[in-house]
Amino acid sequence: MGDPMKSVTEGSIPSRIIPATGETIPELGMGTWKSFDVPEGPARNPLRGILGRFSAAGGALIDTSPMYGRAESALGDLLPRMDPAKAPRNFLATKVWTEGREEGIRQMETSLRLMRRENVDLMQVHNLVDWESHVPVLREWKAAGRIRYWGLTHYRESAFADLERVAAAVRPDFLQFNYSIGDRDAEKRLLPFAAANGIAVLINRPFGEGQLFRRVRGKALPAWAEEAGCGSWSAVFLKFALSHPAVTCAIPATGNPDHFGENLGYLSGGVPGREQTAGWARLLDQI
Ligand SMILES: NC(=O)c1ccc[n+]([C@@H]2O[C@H](COP(=O)([O-])OP(=O)(O)OC[C@H]3O[C@@H](n4cnc5c(N)ncnc54)[C@H](OP(=O)(O)O)[C@@H]3O)[C@@H](O)[C@H]2O)c1
Repeated sequence: MGDPMKSVTEGSIPSRIIPATGETIPELGMGTWKSFDVPEGPARNPLRGILGRFSAAGGALIDTSPMYGRAESALGDLLPRMDPAKAPRNFLATKVWTEGREEGIRQMETSLRLMRRENVDLMQVHNLVDWESHVPVLREWKAAGRIRYWGLTHYRESAFADLERVAAAVRPDFLQFNYSIGDRDAEKRLLPFAAANGIAVLINRPFGEGQLFRRVRGKALPAWAEEAGCGSWSAVFLKFALSHPAVTCAIPATGNPDHFGENLGYLSGGVPGREQTAGWARLLDQI
């Protein structure tokens, strides 16, 4: 295919509403697991390019974690060096991933220091680890203005029942979990639960951690995908995940500028309604 960036104009990523406040955020965010765990120096140049194109297209939400090696420090290195006029809307999300109240506070302070920020937009309890200790602190930090939102995350279907149970008890602003055309368990309960309870949803693993690309390797795009305006498999996967009405933002990861450009190509033709994408998973199974 041609350069998908040609069809992407500045600020063209559409925004969706965060139910807790009515604030809007762009529907395409960026994950950083593995992709931003890169040493200082020239190896980070591709990431600088990706961040620049992400911002130019109107992207804002970047998701990271203390679990992701050097990802937080890479963001602390690269984001302040971006032209503020071109990156006005960073919405930084990180996580707390440890046990104990004091250890959690220490870890969150370290994350802020590594990212060179006094506050972040969203702090999440990573994989529900010791949420009982962290949730009260997240509420305190939100009241004090150190974070604007807080949330809970997981990445496996086996944790969905726990995620829903805890979310029903503590009422987070955001939930983050896995959902993709190859992994649709979230449709059964979690996505409707979030919609019914006014909780914003971040979708991790929209490419099934890259597995979806391996599944279709060497397979031509079928006619139904082209007719739906998809110029690549990546567009099929992103349009599918984003077409669920409960989804606020998907956070695919890549450290490859060509892949990033291809992923932005999902914008071409817009995101169809769920009634149009509902049959795509079955069609994909037939390939
Ligand atoms: N809270 C949690 O427990 C949790 C768990 C998992 C993930 N997450 C968050 O969610 C984000 C996304 O999840 P993920 O990184 O696991 O999986 P993902 O976004 O579904 O897939 C990422 C993989 O897809 C590949 N890829 C991306 N675009 C591609 C393209 N156009 N063509 C071919 N390959 C492509 C990437 O490789 P290249 O780099 O080579 O492009 C990478 O291997 C994470 O980065 C992280 O921020 C959170």
